Amino acid sequence: MQRITASPGGGLVAGLVIAAVIMLVWIISVGVDGLGLLSFLIRLLHVAGAIVWVGFIVFINFVQLVALQGADEQGRACLAKWVIPQVAWWFRHASTVTVLSGAVLLVMTGYLLPTLVYGSGVYVPPSRAVLLWLGVLGALVMLMFVHMYIWPCTQVVLGLRAGDADAKARARARVAFLARLNLILAVPVTLTMVAAAHLY
Ligand code: HEM
Repeated sequence: MQRITASPGGGLVAGLVIAAVIMLVWIISVGVDGLGLLSFLIRLLHVAGAIVWVGFIVFINFVQLVALQGADEQGRACLAKWVIPQVAWWFRHASTVTVLSGAVLLVMTGYLLPTLVYGSGVYVPPSRAVLLWLGVLGALVMLMFVHMYIWPCTQVVLGLRAGDADAKARARARVAFLARLNLILAVPVTLTMVAAAHLY
């Protein structure tokens, strides 16, 4: 299958780099220590990953699946060639970045192995800890859906894995169902994460 080679363009990348440098200079000038800065950057990466992941969950549910339903064979082939592989790439890699940065954040914020960063135990209010761990559990279920079911089924739909017409139809239905479940789970997960970080 031919893949799209067009990139977002040098202008966009340069803009993002300039924005990041300005932000970093500003943060350092405010006088944040090394640990504070690292923690901030990990949190930024986590939120950026979550934005992309959940953004694509919304796109898949409200745009891609609707478009696929209404399209004829030619339209579906077009989407399968030009859109779905890119969406799948961003979706699954964003999920990995979110979870990995989240795991580092667990340590940086003292939920996990507090002595590693702070040299002693860190008091976390129980309600905050419960909210956070429920969110982590939900997010891990979402991650499992993405990597163990949605991506392998998408590969069948795209013809990257063997499968006859029946297998493709089953894979399509499974992707639609699990993408909907991902959307539903994304709401309480985001809510619990933000609440844990800001309510207590
Ligand atoms: C769909 C998945 C996820 C989404 C949408 C998400 C989103 C967020 C958001 C928006 C915040 C608040 C940041 C802030 O305002 O400071 C946050 C914080 C956090 N997230 Fe996630 N997250 C997800 C998955 C995960 C996972 C899998 C982990 C752990 C492995 C994790 C660990 C954390 C931690 C430790 C915090 C900081 C909480 C605190 O400061 O009390 N997140 N997350």
